[in-house]
Amino acid sequence: MKHFKSDYFTYIDDQLHCEKVNLSQLTEEFGTPLFVYSKNFFIDRFKELDDAFKLINHKIYFASKANFNLSVIKTFYEQGSGVDVNSAGEFYRAIKAGVNPKDILLTGVGKTDEEIALGLEKGVFVIKAESLEEVYVINDIAEELNIIAPLAIRVNPDVDAQTHPYISTGLAENKFGIDSVYAYDMFVECSKLSNIELVGIDMHIGSQITKIEPFIEATLKMAELFKKIKATGIPLKHFDIGGGIGVLYNDETPFSPKELAEKLIPIFMQLDAQIMFEPGRFLTANGGVLLTNVLYTKTNSVGKNFIVVDSSMTELLRPSLYKSYHHVQPIENIDNIDFEADIVGPVCETGDYIAKQREITMVGRGDKLAIMSAGAYGMAMSSNYNGRRRPAEILVDGSEYKVIRSRETFRHLIFDEEALL
Ligand code: LLP
Repeated sequence: MKHFKSDYFTYIDDQLHCEKVNLSQLTEEFGTPLFVYSKNFFIDRFKELDDAFKLINHKIYFASKANFNLSVIKTFYEQGSGVDVNSAGEFYRAIKAGVNPKDILLTGVGKTDEEIALGLEKGVFVIKAESLEEVYVINDIAEELNIIAPLAIRVNPDVDAQTHPYISTGLAENKFGIDSVYAYDMFVECSKLSNIELVGIDMHIGSQITKIEPFIEATLKMAELFKKIKATGIPLKHFDIGGGIGVLYNDETPFSPKELAEKLIPIFMQLDAQIMFEPGRFLTANGGVLLTNVLYTKTNSVGKNFIVVDSSMTELLRPSLYKSYHHVQPIENIDNIDFEADIVGPVCETGDYIAKQREITMVGRGDKLAIMSAGAYGMAMSSNYNGRRRPAEILVDGSEYKVIRSRETFRHLIFDEEALL
């Protein structure tokens, strides 16, 4: 069967390794399901993007919603990344990872007053607003706190990102940002408010974008707007193009940071601004795998095969939610024929599956599989549904490895309910 192409997850003597660590050994030591991440993948991906734009003034803010483990955030922070957070909870995680609030962007289409106040009090670098009403609320809260809020406005450029409709965010019909038709007037209006400093313009057109054209189209639109706003005397400093860079899961042909830079740098050169990026998936997706154990196999009367594994939609929701493809391969390069099977989890939902009608080496009870590309929106979207305990997470660095989150215990499941009986 075909194996996922990766320099960080490779077979050495027919055993799948993450960098120099044998994954089979990790499953023996820590059990399954188990998330394993490659630290050097994270670092190399960060450097690749950072280097591509080295000609211009820019900063990367890791979108921690993709993978919010403290050690993962810290890894990027140590490389010089800032952090993009979407809630007070993600803010808390970033702070706990050692991130200075000055390196944090506070994003989100529906921030509560509590979240806005927290961000302003702690001194985030930029707070973003997605409606005029929200700008007024931010201004009021800043006034109460007697501070000036560094504000960016997220504009919806009305561009089709050509990705899954659930993760497309830059069309006028989507809930995100300010309609580009109203944006100019809104900047002018907001510049009159007493407790706001308008520092930037922001966009994020969607996620898992594999075509470069939507990025160029949206950036051009926003660049025109940026210039028009600056011409009124509003001294905007930042131009944030959001996240969304797509990656390889199956047979996509994503563009590289270098290709993106070639197209966008000439546009950025015309702006006197710091360029910001908020990638999540690009930095983490292919730096992680979810290891799982085959519990049972069965064949139904119409010849359909099932491989029942111990991972499910509670650890990796993406297939159930978006019909996403994740490559699955045995962690031992078993010499056996391929067959077609649905790979399904133990959760009591028909929609709970990892892969459908998938060609895979014939495996049996006790064999271990690697679900690839699980470093983004895997653990971060996990749940306790069906009373499932979240898996442990391991960070590999060369031949070293470290538990960066332990497997949840039964106690996590009940939190304080027992005391409240
Ligand atoms: N900035 C903003 C404002 C965002 O909303 C997002 C993602 C990002 C940055 C990072 O986007 P990325 O570089 O990772 O594409 N759960 C979905 C993805 C949802 C993305 C939501 N926003 C999935 O598993 O595909």
